[in-house]
Amino acid sequence: MTDLQKEILRLKEAKNAMVLAHFYQDLELQQVADFVGDSFEMAKRAAAADAQLLIICGVKFMAESAKLLSPNKKVLLPRQDAGCIMADMIEPHHVRELRAAHPDAAVMCYVNSSAAVKAECDVCCTSSSALTIARALDAQKIIFVPDKNLGAYVASQVPEKEFVFFDGYCPIHHHITLETVEKVRAKLPDALLLVHPECRPDVVSAADFVGSTSQLINRVLQGDELTYVIGTETTVVELLRNNAPGKIIYALSPTMVCTNMRKTSVEDLHYALDKEVYEVSLPDSEAAGAQRALQAMLTLGAAPSTR
Ligand code: 13P
Ligand code: SF4
Repeated sequence: MTDLQKEILRLKEAKNAMVLAHFYQDLELQQVADFVGDSFEMAKRAAAADAQLLIICGVKFMAESAKLLSPNKKVLLPRQDAGCIMADMIEPHHVRELRAAHPDAAVMCYVNSSAAVKAECDVCCTSSSALTIARALDAQKIIFVPDKNLGAYVASQVPEKEFVFFDGYCPIHHHITLETVEKVRAKLPDALLLVHPECRPDVVSAADFVGSTSQLINRVLQGDELTYVIGTETTVVELLRNNAPGKIIYALSPTMVCTNMRKTSVEDLHYALDKEVYEVSLPDSEAAGAQRALQAMLTLGAAPSTR
């Protein structure tokens, strides 16, 4: 452990602070976190945390979710410029327009969205809780925003309901095509292909396993297969190589890199923790509605599932 990492541990203890990190974060940063998880696990941990000071190592929507679920705690985001390209694709008026066109539908919103967008929706979901929530939601028709790929995956697994999609996507996952999958399959015919549901529907259909970041990691750690190909952010590949000795782990593509997730460094975490800066605050006009949609996610999504 470096001196800076040790200093972070000291500061955390002195301030009774909790650091929550996403699996896409720098591995040195994950080493000093109190909790590392996918976005659903991070939200649940933030809601249940005893600490009064939470530092979220991830992107803006994750820090906003932590603040909304723990409104009385001080929540810091070490890099304020760590956004999410997909979250920036949709605005509140898009949801209002979809609602007007489909007044009989409930609106389900991927957490990769702003608080203002969440406030327009009935329930949030993450990639690990989306199937459970879509099934549990008391509505026959669902408007799913903003990720059309996760939406298509949910629709394929919940055929008893009707879905309407917004045209949003994550460029890091969406730019991978079936052609890439076919090339990798030809080179590694015995490998198990695991992809995140933010990938295109034809890529998802061609995979052996689909799941959230945690679900992909657990499938590899618990799997009997020797070789795995991972279709999500490449930090997960690095993480698995370190944690699954004897298994051979490949990236579906080395281009699956989220620059926003890569922004936060150990130095950034240290600075925010030491100075207690970059606090997340949300206008009351957005907070109440977004809180309701996130709480509905925690209630309806209590039992995450995959296909
Ligand atoms: P998870 O729900 O798997 O953590 O995914 C979050 C995300 O932003 C993936 O791109
Ligand atoms: Fe957003 Fe995609 Fe980055 Fe996830 S990987 S934070 S969805 S841009």
